[in-house]
Amino acid sequence: MSRAISGLTTVAGIAGAPVAHSLSPLIHNSWLAAAGIDGVYVAFAPPKDRFAAFAEGLRGGSVRGLNVTVPFKEAALALADRVSDRARAAGAANLLLFEPDGAIAADNTDGLGLLSALVSQAPGFEVAAGPAAILGAGGAARGAVAALLAAGSPEVRIVNRTRERAQALAGSFGPTVRVFAEADAEALAGVCLIVNATSLGLGGGPGPAAALQAAPPSVVVMDMVYRPLTTEFLSRAEGLGLATVDGLDMLLGQAGPSFEALFGAPPPAIDVRGLCLAALEEGG
Ligand code: ATR
Repeated sequence: MSRAISGLTTVAGIAGAPVAHSLSPLIHNSWLAAAGIDGVYVAFAPPKDRFAAFAEGLRGGSVRGLNVTVPFKEAALALADRVSDRARAAGAANLLLFEPDGAIAADNTDGLGLLSALVSQAPGFEVAAGPAAILGAGGAARGAVAALLAAGSPEVRIVNRTRERAQALAGSFGPTVRVFAEADAEALAGVCLIVNATSLGLGGGPGPAAALQAAPPSVVVMDMVYRPLTTEFLSRAEGLGLATVDGLDMLLGQAGPSFEALFGAPPPAIDVRGLCLAALEEGG
């Protein structure tokens, strides 16, 4: 459905590099059309060394706000004047709002996305039920640790190829975050959740080599990767009869509160997941 762009149209978007294959424009523009909101959501790919200048230039609100994705999330946090608690805890922002007074406000809705994906695809899952294992120690892993602790996780275990990176991440959170080696059979003992927060599996390659059979049969296995939707890691979990959660609901779960912040209304109830699945199948 095409919509008229006028002098009153609210402009928002996503900044990333690369960003051409982002599903966010499809998600937000589908919601805008269904809600009848006079807005548009576009993709920006500033050169990697020009992101700060790009965002600074938007002060004042000619663009209402931006979702921010790889590799700009940390830089987005750093240039904001106001930072939400959850963005500070995640060490990254996936949402910038350009206020009329010139200020930039940073938020992070990725954690909400992770939690809402668990609610929608693993009914009955309780974050407080036991330790969670996060595979990876990059920005995505940091966000997952922050979200799980805030939601009441009693212990988060970081399992990463590079131990120093895992230790640095754990050290910024405190004693409830522990580091385990990839080869440590105890890493997955007793966990209620395992999350792949590495880039392994993206584009169809092998996922993390975690020994899933060491986890309890009640464990929920989640992958942040959603290209492909059923990653090798999730296939392996399904093969063991474990409950799985895919990364697409996390993407949708961060988009909902972003949409509300950018356009002032909750997303309408349309099958945006179905639209995304169709786009993914077309190779989008
Ligand atoms: P992001 O910010 O998206 O999390 P990142 O900071 O580049 O991205 O982190 C990527 C994560 O995937 C890291 O945990 C990385 O492990 P290292 O810290 O050891 O680099 C993990 N990763 C990437 N490729 C990997 C591989 N081939 N084997 C194991 N881990 C890998």
